[in-house]
Amino acid sequence: MAKDSLSITDNRTGKSYELPVSESTIRAMDLRQIKVADDDFGLMTYDPAFMNTASCRSAITFIDGDKGILRYRGYPIEQLAEKCSFLEVAYLLCEGELPNRAQLEAWEVKVRFHTYVHTNITKFLEGYRYDAHPMGMLLGAVGALSTFYPDAKHIDDKANRYLQRIRLIAKMPTIAAFAFRHSRGLPFVFPRNDLSYIGNFVNMTFEIGGKLEPNAVLQRALEILFILHADHEQNCSTSAVRSVGSSQVDPYSALAGGVAALYGPLHGGANEEVLRMLRAVGSKARIPEFIRQVKEGKAKLMGFGHRVYKNYDPRAKIIKRMADEVFEVTRPSELLPIALELERIALEDEYFVSRKLYPNVDFYSGLIYQAIGFPVEMFPVLFAIPRTSGWLAQWQEMRGDPEQKIARPRQLYLGAGQRGYVEIGKRDEPAPVGR
Ligand code: CMC
Repeated sequence: MAKDSLSITDNRTGKSYELPVSESTIRAMDLRQIKVADDDFGLMTYDPAFMNTASCRSAITFIDGDKGILRYRGYPIEQLAEKCSFLEVAYLLCEGELPNRAQLEAWEVKVRFHTYVHTNITKFLEGYRYDAHPMGMLLGAVGALSTFYPDAKHIDDKANRYLQRIRLIAKMPTIAAFAFRHSRGLPFVFPRNDLSYIGNFVNMTFEIGGKLEPNAVLQRALEILFILHADHEQNCSTSAVRSVGSSQVDPYSALAGGVAALYGPLHGGANEEVLRMLRAVGSKARIPEFIRQVKEGKAKLMGFGHRVYKNYDPRAKIIKRMADEVFEVTRPSELLPIALELERIALEDEYFVSRKLYPNVDFYSGLIYQAIGFPVEMFPVLFAIPRTSGWLAQWQEMRGDPEQKIARPRQLYLGAGQRGYVEIGKRDEPAPVGR
């Protein structure tokens, strides 16, 4: 019997099977040979929300959730956050290695060259309601980009895929800034190619009357936040991108699926909810009452908990340290003391300790976004801009993986057995089904 194998006895039939184990994993398809009869479909696994299913092999991001470790392409997130520019990290994710100086310069020039969007994009952005959520605007705009670049359908053409990667990384900040300006009733500020990636985004967002005093500390803080958000292996939005992309649709349509998934309050929308929660709690004195409500299941401690991290999220650690530097150059945040106290109490409370609930990336990021001057509605958009590079790296990896096919989970059918059609006048009041 092979050492790296799993022996299974099917007690329904008494038959035994030996399944190979590789990388601590068995292949779900190997279970299909386990049948009670020749015409039986074979054994399946049932795994709602993919709690214990690897959907791909990946060489991009490594997470050890128990130890609180995050690495992009092998490099610890702490080192990348300290030393790199965001575009350097985007290159690392998408192209596989850190760029040398010439490669980085060429990459920056290409991204800069593609920051403009077609004028018609500005027209339909203007068509959104004055109070449209900027993440909804971004979602629509990213999907719409596929109509502006029909060549993106040539997903098997390597050079074409590269061009779409550059376009998406370059245009996301422009669309994001335009969504913000629209919500403020301000005219759009067009990209300036003499500025850095971050500097240009900040300028397009906040410039008024030709003036914006760039603040180096705040811009670096934003850049670090972008690095921390660039990829996070098979999370909800990345799985959405891979799943939509597996139909061989163009990358803009696939990434629109990612933006939609990120919008939700359990994912990229959590940073927005954290700020609302801190405002609602309002003072340190009200924290014990809020914690009681959370424990009774009447509220959720947003920015806490993670499917993979059962330890302090390493990104949250970096952000918490950065907060001090940021608040030195801005006015102090009135919400920071509430967040710190909430964390202190939660980390001592049996409810959170026993469930291994720690602050995640979203717990402190919103306080920094707020200090920089972004309204809460922009927070998920600020997550989507850098995550674009991760989505693209994952999409690209999927395209090159010979084992990948169209994503198509199985189901356990629990509905009615076959029954005959009943004429409309002869039907009883039906019990609601499937709602
Ligand atoms: N507040 C209170 N209780 C919580 C929380 C929380 N934030 N998170 C999990 N729990 C409880 C949950 O009720 C459950 O308790 P019980 O075992 O008694 O039923 C237990 O902890 C396990 O939670 P789960 O919901 O089964 O865990 P999950 O892996 O399905 O969900 C999560 C992970 C991130 C969706 C969840 O922790 C959550 O909703 N957190 C708040 C939203 C948030 O901060 N999201 C950002 C995630 S990090 C960035 C990103 O991915 O975008």
